[in-house]
Amino acid sequence: MSQPELTIRLMRADDDVDAELDLRHRSFGPMDEADREFWSAEVRGCIEGGRQFGVWDDGRLVGAARYYDMRQFWHGRAVPMAGVGGVKVAPEARGRGVGRALMIALLDAMAERGYPLSALYPATAHLYRSLGWEMAGGHYRAEIPGRSLGSLLPPDPRIPAAAEPGQAPAGTPGGGPPPAVRRAGPQDADDVIAVLTAVHAGARDCGPATLDPDSVRRWLAGPHLFSYLAPDGFLGYGWHGGSDHEIMVHVLAAGSAPTARALWGIVASHASVTHTVHAVVGPDDPIGWLTREPDVRLRLHKRWMLRVLDPAAAISGRGFPAAADARVVLRLADDQLPAGAGLHTLTVRDGEGSLLPGITERSAASPGQEPVMLGPRGFAALYAGVPMATLRVAGLAAGGNRATDEALDAVFLSHPHLIDYF
Ligand SMILES: CC(C)(COP(=O)(O)OP(=O)(O)OC[C@H]1O[C@@H](n2cnc3c(N)ncnc32)[C@H](O)[C@@H]1OP(=O)(O)O)[C@@H](O)C(=O)NCCC(=O)NCCS
Repeated sequence: MSQPELTIRLMRADDDVDAELDLRHRSFGPMDEADREFWSAEVRGCIEGGRQFGVWDDGRLVGAARYYDMRQFWHGRAVPMAGVGGVKVAPEARGRGVGRALMIALLDAMAERGYPLSALYPATAHLYRSLGWEMAGGHYRAEIPGRSLGSLLPPDPRIPAAAEPGQAPAGTPGGGPPPAVRRAGPQDADDVIAVLTAVHAGARDCGPATLDPDSVRRWLAGPHLFSYLAPDGFLGYGWHGGSDHEIMVHVLAAGSAPTARALWGIVASHASVTHTVHAVVGPDDPIGWLTREPDVRLRLHKRWMLRVLDPAAAISGRGFPAAADARVVLRLADDQLPAGAGLHTLTVRDGEGSLLPGITERSAASPGQEPVMLGPRGFAALYAGVPMATLRVAGLAAGGNRATDEALDAVFLSHPHLIDYF
């Protein structure tokens, strides 16, 4: 393979954004005027944020990729995450190492900027695996007949409504009065992020993420989005497939029963013309328990991969189940980012975790504990809740014993889902 003379760097304001859009057009399919406008703003935003990379071969743009400044929730705590998107190489330049060189530059930049995590949706996995990303979670879509949203089940009358903070008073029939819901716009970006953060934290979610305020502002300004804000909920949706027969709910997050009903009620109000509602939801979304008939058809739309860039920060920044308690010695290997490699002690207690270099006193006192051995792919998958038994059979973990496997499963086990698609 002949190695081309490449220049890889962050794109600047005076670089040709149309060349990036042309690469996008050739790599990901047709774009109409509205798409072009949207992606042009997106690329400019990422250039301003210092997150848009380009690859030039003899002055010609032959590759590009960006990352978004995100916060991903892990057991309800937000961890800074670099969400990689728009990875592409010009068709005539493919298969010559451009993609690999670009992804190495991105990986180094994201690690240097201090992101503990990076996630991406792979169109092909080999390149990303070779740099330490691994399959971690899903992006799910539900298909719901429009009419079935119009008559959601009422709360079980035998159960008094919970008096959680921010929720309706105990004993209020139907879970309390409907919340104040209003249309949202670009000026509400910070409030939208704050509401989503509160909902994901309250639900102890694993996987959902929030974007930076500028990206949220751009999204909220989109001409095809209808959005609504409640004190503890947010809804963003639009028409789907170019007709009024289908709706796509991009986000519906609610922190209480009355808010869930109110927001789904807005979607349901379209039932007279809308046959089908598509909705990006997690597998445990309450909507699966709110329709009268079993007609929420959930399917895995895309899988996403995770890369742990800074293992110690990724562990100390996330939440863990308060009941889980573990101390396990890990031997981490990482050729690409060696700063995080080596022997470490993972400790999880009272919902907090730490990963310290070496073997701490207490774990040294557990005789016969062979370290659990993980590469970056195994560590990313473990972090995302893939069971140790799966990792062993997949060839992504070795060492340790049954007790360490059970301890690791107890602290990490989850089925993370991402709502945003990037
Ligand atoms: C995927 C893409 C970015 C790879 O860029 P590239 O410059 O061709 O990749 P490289 O030459 O650096 O190859 C890197 C490795 O990935 C592998 N690879 C590249 N493209 C691949 C593909 N489409 N399918 C499977 N493996 C692929 C190569 O074999 C190589 O593996 P090796 O180093 O073990 O030999 C490029 O093909 C592209 O733009 N495709 C269309 C858009 C796309 O799918 N983007 C990815 C979105 S997540």
